[in-house]
Amino acid sequence: MWPQAENAGRRRVLDDRELVVDSKTLKRRGFVKICASAAVSVSASPSLLANQKSPVRQYNRVKLLDAQKRAVTAESLEQGVSYVFNYPYVTTPCFLLNLGKPADGNELLQTEEGEEYRWQGGVGPHRSIVSFCAICAHKMTHPSKAVSFINYRHEEVSFKDKAENPVRRPGVIYCCSEKSVYDPARGARVLGGPAPQPLGAIALEYDKKEGAIYASGTYGGELYREFFDTFAFRLALEFGTSDIQQKVSDTAIVTSIEQYSATQMLC
Ligand code: FES
Repeated sequence: MWPQAENAGRRRVLDDRELVVDSKTLKRRGFVKICASAAVSVSASPSLLANQKSPVRQYNRVKLLDAQKRAVTAESLEQGVSYVFNYPYVTTPCFLLNLGKPADGNELLQTEEGEEYRWQGGVGPHRSIVSFCAICAHKMTHPSKAVSFINYRHEEVSFKDKAENPVRRPGVIYCCSEKSVYDPARGARVLGGPAPQPLGAIALEYDKKEGAIYASGTYGGELYREFFDTFAFRLALEFGTSDIQQKVSDTAIVTSIEQYSATQMLC
Protein backbone atom coordinates (compact mmCIF):
# COMPACT_ATOMS: atom_id res chain seq x y z
CA MET A 1 0.00 0.00 0.00
CA TRP A 2 1.23 3.45 -0.82
CA PRO A 3 2.55 5.29 2.22
CA GLN A 4 0.53 8.23 3.38
CA ALA A 5 2.31 11.10 5.06
CA GLU A 6 0.86 11.82 8.43
CA ASN A 7 1.04 15.38 9.67
CA ALA A 8 2.71 16.19 6.43
CA GLY A 9 5.42 18.81 6.50
CA ARG A 10 7.21 20.09 3.47
CA ARG A 11 10.42 18.15 3.99
CA ARG A 12 10.96 15.32 6.41
CA VAL A 13 13.92 13.14 7.15
CA LEU A 14 13.36 9.46 6.70
CA ASP A 15 15.15 6.89 8.80
CA ASP A 16 14.49 3.32 7.81
CA ARG A 17 10.91 3.51 6.64
CA GLU A 18 10.25 1.49 3.56
CA LEU A 19 7.77 1.80 0.82
CA VAL A 20 6.16 -1.61 0.63
CA VAL A 21 5.37 -2.92 -2.78
CA ASP A 22 4.58 -6.58 -3.15
CA SER A 23 7.59 -7.87 -5.01
CA LYS A 24 5.50 -10.73 -6.36
CA THR A 25 3.65 -8.25 -8.49
CA LEU A 26 6.86 -7.16 -10.13
CA LYS A 27 7.79 -8.79 -13.36
CA ARG A 28 11.10 -8.88 -15.09
CA ARG A 29 11.86 -5.69 -16.83
CA GLY A 30 11.56 -5.77 -20.55
CA PHE A 31 13.69 -3.72 -22.77
CA VAL A 32 10.71 -2.37 -24.59
CA LYS A 33 10.64 -2.43 -28.32
CA ILE A 34 12.60 0.24 -30.01
CA CYS A 35 10.89 2.55 -32.41
CA ALA A 36 12.41 2.28 -35.81
CA SER A 37 11.42 5.80 -36.73
CA ALA A 38 13.49 7.50 -34.06
CA ALA A 39 14.84 9.87 -36.69
CA VAL A 40 11.63 11.83 -36.59
CA SER A 41 11.76 12.37 -32.85
CA VAL A 42 15.37 13.41 -32.56
CA SER A 43 15.70 15.86 -35.38
CA ALA A 44 17.05 18.52 -33.02
CA SER A 45 19.38 16.07 -31.33
CA PRO A 46 21.33 14.30 -34.04
CA SER A 47 23.75 12.81 -31.55
CA LEU A 48 20.96 10.47 -30.54
CA LEU A 49 21.05 9.06 -34.01
CA ALA A 50 24.79 8.85 -34.22
CA ASN A 51 25.19 6.01 -31.80
CA GLN A 52 23.39 2.79 -32.50
CA LYS A 53 23.55 1.88 -28.83
CA SER A 54 21.20 4.73 -27.98
CA PRO A 55 18.01 3.86 -29.81
CA VAL A 56 15.08 5.97 -28.74
CA ARG A 57 11.56 4.76 -28.17
CA GLN A 58 9.54 7.43 -29.80
CA TYR A 59 6.70 9.05 -27.89
CA ASN A 60 5.01 12.36 -28.59
CA ARG A 61 7.30 15.34 -28.91
CA VAL A 62 6.15 17.69 -26.19
CA LYS A 63 7.26 21.15 -25.28
CA LEU A 64 8.07 21.72 -21.61
CA LEU A 65 6.21 24.67 -20.08
CA ASP A 66 6.15 26.28 -16.67
CA ALA A 67 2.96 26.82 -14.68
CA GLN A 68 2.36 30.10 -16.53
CA LYS A 69 2.55 28.22 -19.84
CA ARG A 70 5.87 29.79 -20.79
CA ALA A 71 8.55 27.70 -22.40
CA VAL A 72 10.95 26.19 -19.92
CA THR A 73 14.47 27.25 -20.84
CA ALA A 74 17.83 26.18 -19.50
CA GLU A 75 18.10 29.55 -17.75
CA SER A 76 14.73 29.18 -16.06
CA LEU A 77 15.72 25.91 -14.40
CA GLU A 78 17.35 26.62 -11.10
CA GLN A 79 20.45 24.62 -10.37
CA GLY A 80 19.90 22.02 -7.68
CA VAL A 81 16.10 22.04 -7.80
CA SER A 82 14.16 18.84 -8.51
CA TYR A 83 11.65 19.58 -11.24
CA VAL A 84 9.00 17.08 -12.24
CA PHE A 85 6.78 16.67 -15.29
CA ASN A 86 4.62 13.81 -16.50
CA TYR A 87 5.84 12.04 -19.61
CA PRO A 88 5.38 10.05 -21.79
CA TYR A 89 2.06 9.21 -20.12
CA VAL A 90 -0.12 11.61 -18.17
CA THR A 91 0.52 9.59 -15.00
CA THR A 92 4.26 8.84 -15.26
CA PRO A 93 6.59 11.33 -13.52
CA CYS A 94 10.04 12.36 -14.76
CA PHE A 95 12.76 14.39 -13.12
CA LEU A 96 14.11 17.41 -14.95
CA LEU A 97 17.37 18.72 -13.47
CA ASN A 98 19.85 21.47 -14.08
CA LEU A 99 23.04 19.92 -12.78
CA GLY A 100 24.92 23.20 -12.99
CA LYS A 101 27.78 21.60 -14.93
CA PRO A 102 28.07 19.82 -18.26
CA ALA A 103 26.94 16.22 -18.35
CA ASP A 104 28.90 15.04 -21.33
CA GLY A 105 27.24 11.68 -21.74
CA ASN A 106 28.48 8.80 -23.82
CA GLU A 107 27.97 6.59 -20.78
CA LEU A 108 27.64 2.93 -21.65
CA LEU A 109 24.88 1.53 -19.45
CA GLN A 110 22.97 -1.69 -19.19
CA THR A 111 19.39 -2.62 -18.38
CA GLU A 112 18.54 -5.43 -16.01
CA GLU A 113 18.03 -7.61 -19.04
CA GLY A 114 21.58 -6.94 -20.19
CA GLU A 115 20.69 -4.61 -23.06
CA GLU A 116 23.41 -2.01 -23.51
CA TYR A 117 22.73 1.60 -24.38
CA ARG A 118 24.62 4.86 -24.33
CA TRP A 119 23.33 7.77 -22.35
CA GLN A 120 23.74 10.89 -24.43
CA GLY A 121 24.26 13.49 -21.73
CA GLY A 122 22.69 16.83 -21.00
CA VAL A 123 21.13 19.39 -23.34
CA GLY A 124 21.04 23.17 -23.32
CA PRO A 125 23.82 25.71 -23.83
CA HIS A 126 25.94 24.11 -21.12
CA ARG A 127 24.69 20.54 -21.56
CA SER A 128 23.60 20.62 -17.95
CA ILE A 129 19.90 19.79 -18.36
CA VAL A 130 19.04 16.12 -17.89
CA SER A 131 15.86 14.13 -17.47
CA PHE A 132 15.06 10.67 -16.14
CA CYS A 133 12.01 8.65 -15.35
CA ALA A 134 11.25 9.25 -11.65
CA ILE A 135 10.14 5.66 -11.08
CA CYS A 136 12.75 3.82 -9.01
CA ALA A 137 14.17 0.81 -10.82
CA HIS A 138 13.91 -1.30 -7.66
CA LYS A 139 10.24 -1.39 -6.60
CA MET A 140 8.92 1.59 -8.50
CA THR A 141 8.75 4.18 -5.73
CA HIS A 142 7.84 7.47 -7.39
CA PRO A 143 6.57 10.94 -6.50
CA SER A 144 2.84 10.97 -5.79
CA LYS A 145 0.71 13.97 -4.89
CA ALA A 146 0.98 13.13 -1.19
CA VAL A 147 4.61 12.22 -0.85
CA SER A 148 7.87 11.57 -2.62
CA PHE A 149 10.43 9.11 -1.30
CA ILE A 150 12.68 9.65 -4.32
CA ASN A 151 14.43 12.97 -4.82
CA TYR A 152 17.36 14.70 -6.41
CA ARG A 153 19.84 15.75 -3.72
CA HIS A 154 22.09 18.55 -4.84
CA GLU A 155 23.72 18.81 -1.44
CA GLU A 156 26.14 16.28 -0.01
CA VAL A 157 24.44 13.14 1.31
CA SER A 158 25.55 9.83 2.80
CA PHE A 159 24.87 6.43 1.34
CA LYS A 160 26.48 3.05 0.80
CA ASP A 161 27.96 2.13 -2.55
CA LYS A 162 27.49 -1.24 -4.19
CA ALA A 163 30.30 -2.74 -2.09
CA GLU A 164 28.56 -1.39 1.04
CA ASN A 165 31.27 1.20 1.64
CA PRO A 166 30.06 4.49 3.12
CA VAL A 167 30.13 7.38 0.67
CA ARG A 168 29.44 11.09 0.97
CA ARG A 169 28.83 13.13 -2.15
CA PRO A 170 26.43 15.65 -3.67
CA GLY A 171 24.36 15.47 -6.84
CA VAL A 172 22.56 12.14 -6.60
CA ILE A 173 19.02 10.87 -7.04
CA TYR A 174 18.22 9.07 -3.81
CA CYS A 175 15.33 6.67 -3.31
CA CYS A 176 14.68 6.41 0.41
CA SER A 177 12.49 3.32 0.17
CA GLU A 178 15.43 0.92 0.19
CA LYS A 179 18.20 3.41 -0.49
CA SER A 180 18.99 3.04 -4.13
CA VAL A 181 21.17 5.90 -5.33
CA TYR A 182 21.64 7.04 -8.93
CA ASP A 183 24.09 9.40 -10.60
CA PRO A 184 22.21 11.84 -12.86
CA ALA A 185 25.45 13.17 -14.34
CA ARG A 186 26.22 9.68 -15.64
CA GLY A 187 22.91 8.55 -17.07
CA ALA A 188 21.40 7.74 -13.67
CA ARG A 189 23.69 4.75 -13.31
CA VAL A 190 23.29 2.94 -10.00
CA LEU A 191 25.76 4.04 -7.32
CA GLY A 192 24.36 2.00 -4.47
CA GLY A 193 21.37 0.07 -3.18
CA PRO A 194 19.27 -2.70 -4.68
CA ALA A 195 18.19 -1.09 -7.98
CA PRO A 196 19.01 -3.54 -10.79
CA GLN A 197 19.34 -0.95 -13.55
CA PRO A 198 19.63 2.82 -14.10
CA LEU A 199 16.58 5.01 -14.15
CA GLY A 200 15.08 5.18 -17.62
CA ALA A 201 16.39 8.12 -19.64
CA ILE A 202 14.16 10.75 -21.23
CA ALA A 203 15.33 11.98 -24.64
CA LEU A 204 15.43 15.77 -24.55
CA GLU A 205 15.81 18.18 -27.43
CA TYR A 206 17.03 21.71 -27.04
CA ASP A 207 15.77 24.23 -29.58
CA LYS A 208 18.58 26.74 -29.75
CA LYS A 209 16.55 29.36 -31.59
CA GLU A 210 13.68 29.59 -29.11
CA GLY A 211 15.65 28.29 -26.13
CA ALA A 212 12.89 25.77 -25.46
CA ILE A 213 13.26 22.18 -24.29
CA TYR A 214 11.27 19.27 -25.68
CA ALA A 215 10.85 15.67 -24.54
CA SER A 216 10.61 13.29 -27.45
CA GLY A 217 11.13 9.73 -26.27
CA THR A 218 12.75 7.39 -23.80
CA TYR A 219 15.68 5.01 -23.80
CA GLY A 220 17.21 2.52 -21.42
CA GLY A 221 15.06 0.28 -19.25
CA GLU A 222 11.49 1.31 -18.70
CA LEU A 223 8.92 -0.04 -16.27
CA TYR A 224 5.68 1.45 -17.49
CA ARG A 225 3.83 -1.83 -17.94
CA GLU A 226 4.62 -2.96 -14.40
CA PHE A 227 3.92 0.54 -13.10
CA PHE A 228 0.43 0.59 -14.58
CA ASP A 229 -0.30 -2.96 -13.41
CA THR A 230 0.78 -2.17 -9.86
CA PHE A 231 -0.61 1.31 -9.32
CA ALA A 232 -3.62 1.45 -11.65
CA PHE A 233 -6.23 2.07 -8.98
CA ARG A 234 -4.31 4.77 -7.16
CA LEU A 235 -3.27 6.52 -10.37
CA ALA A 236 -6.86 6.62 -11.61
CA LEU A 237 -7.96 8.22 -8.34
CA GLU A 238 -5.06 10.62 -8.11
CA PHE A 239 -5.26 11.86 -11.68
CA GLY A 240 -9.04 11.60 -11.96
CA THR A 241 -8.95 9.57 -15.12
CA SER A 242 -9.85 6.08 -16.26
CA ASP A 243 -7.23 6.34 -19.00
CA ILE A 244 -4.03 6.24 -16.98
CA GLN A 245 -2.08 5.25 -20.09
CA GLN A 246 -3.06 8.31 -22.06
CA LYS A 247 0.02 9.75 -23.74
CA VAL A 248 1.05 13.32 -23.12
CA SER A 249 0.75 15.40 -26.27
CA ASP A 250 2.00 18.83 -27.33
CA THR A 251 2.97 20.24 -23.94
CA ALA A 252 3.85 19.15 -20.42
CA ILE A 253 3.85 21.33 -17.32
CA VAL A 254 7.03 21.35 -15.27
CA THR A 255 6.78 22.03 -11.52
CA SER A 256 9.16 21.81 -8.62
CA ILE A 257 8.88 18.60 -6.66
CA GLU A 258 7.56 20.60 -3.69
CA GLN A 259 4.61 21.58 -5.85
CA TYR A 260 4.19 18.10 -7.25
CA SER A 261 4.35 16.21 -3.93
CA ALA A 262 3.16 17.68 -0.64
CA THR A 263 5.86 15.97 1.41
CA GLN A 264 9.47 15.12 0.65
CA MET A 265 10.89 12.15 2.54
CA LEU A 266 14.65 12.58 2.68
CA CYS A 267 17.26 10.16 3.91
S1 FES B 1 11.89 1.29 -4.48
FE1 FES B 1 13.42 0.22 -3.36
S2 FES B 1 15.13 1.56 -3.46
FE2 FES B 1 13.63 2.59 -4.60
